[in-house]
Amino acid sequence: MAQLFKPYANVIARTSIVIGGMLPVIVGLAAAAYSRSPYNTKVEVPLNQPIPFSHQHHAYELGIDCRYCHTSVEKSGYAGLPPTETCMSCHSQIWTNSPLLEPVRKSYEDNTPIQWNKVNTLPSFVNFNHSIHIARGINCNQCHGPVNDMQITFKGHPFMMQWCLQCHRAPEKYLYKDPDSHSLREQVFNVYWKLQEKGVSGMTPREQHLVKGEEQEEDGAKDVAEGKALVKQYGVKVQQLADCSVCHY
Ligand code: HEC
Ligand code: HEC
Ligand code: HEC
Ligand code: HEC
Ligand code: HEC
Repeated sequence: MAQLFKPYANVIARTSIVIGGMLPVIVGLAAAAYSRSPYNTKVEVPLNQPIPFSHQHHAYELGIDCRYCHTSVEKSGYAGLPPTETCMSCHSQIWTNSPLLEPVRKSYEDNTPIQWNKVNTLPSFVNFNHSIHIARGINCNQCHGPVNDMQITFKGHPFMMQWCLQCHRAPEKYLYKDPDSHSLREQVFNVYWKLQEKGVSGMTPREQHLVKGEEQEEDGAKDVAEGKALVKQYGVKVQQLADCSVCHY
């Protein structure tokens, strides 16, 4: 029988596997020019929004849970933004004459969504998932900066690859267990209640870093030992967590 594949077909196959394997990298490099542009890396610069929505006011002072508005954050990859109905659950009754809320009322009457400007973006070739991070007890502020302090939302971190990898290579430095919470998921949100109840001075050094949006320094050998134990307990596969395929496919 004639040879089904000529020897050079093999070479082609091999080459295409190599090229195929590198495709995300090539696409990535092309996108890198864009992703490094100032537009995408603006950190700590409040972004103009159609309505001056304040997290400091709603999430911290009024104490509304993140999940009331970002309903899918612990269940899916996307946190999601609230529909106008969520705002109107309060603002049909309070602050009904505020001119700042006119666009909310108009959106509700016209049945057209509010066009929020996106603060955080990843290039489309990067895979991200909220729920898995929340399930490991990683607080929103760890990635988004001091949301509880934001009058107008800004980007807390530039989400460069190196930044994600810092944690993926050594999650033991970041994982912790809040003794006051029943579950890791709950501790993510508990930080904000603690801040309200006890104030910054009543919190642990780690929590203080979080609510102030400070870069987490080494929080001591004791914390890293705890982190290592958690990595083991939750079966986090540290060896694989920095594989390209975790974030690119
Ligand atoms: C009352 C509703 C409400 C609550 C409660 C709320 N948010 Fe938001 N959030 C919004 C709205 C509306 C936007 C879009 C406008 C903006 O960016 O400020 C938003 C945007 C964001 C963004 C930026 C999204 C982007 O464009 O990338 C982050 C991050 C965020 N919220 C985190 C949080 C965290 C953390 C909490 C809890 C501490 C929280 N939010 C509580 C309504 C809410
Ligand atoms: C749980 C109730 C609640 C929800 C839900 C809520 N708000 Fe508010 N909001 C308030 C209260 C209470 C105030 C005013 C408090 C104060 O100023 O003392 C306020 C104030 C505001 C103000 C400032 C108004 C002014 O004239 O100073 C804006 C703007 C605003 N909210 C936008 C929104 C948007 C947009 C949403 C939906 C994403 C939303 N709010 C959802 C309770 C709520
Ligand atoms: C491990 C880092 C990390 C943590 C922890 C995290 N986020 Fe995010 N968040 C991101 C990234 C990255 C994006 C941009 C995603 C994209 O563009 O694909 C984002 C986007 C968002 C958005 C915009 C809408 C969306 O889903 O893309 C909101 C709202 C948001 N986050 C809220 C939250 C809240 C609330 C929490 C805590 C309960 C939280 N995030 C925890 C990294 C994180
Ligand atoms: C503070 C630590 C931390 C940061 C920052 C962080 N991650 Fe993670 N990430 C984790 C941990 C812990 C896991 C869960 C691993 C496990 O339980 O197996 C995870 C899981 C993931 C997964 C799912 C992996 C899987 O097996 O399904 C993806 C995708 C991911 N991260 C992407 C990102 C991206 C993209 C960024 C940066 C924008 C980022 N992460 C930032 C700690 C972090
Ligand atoms: C934890 C998640 C994560 C892992 C693991 C990861 N990357 Fe990335 N990568 C990212 C993010 C996030 C960006 C986008 C950075 C930006 O917008 O500047 C990115 C961007 C890139 C880019 C575009 C150039 C650049 O640096 O911005 C290339 C190329 C790339 N990654 C290749 C790789 C390769 C090869 C591996 C394996 C060795 C890898 N990545 C592993 C998250 C990850």
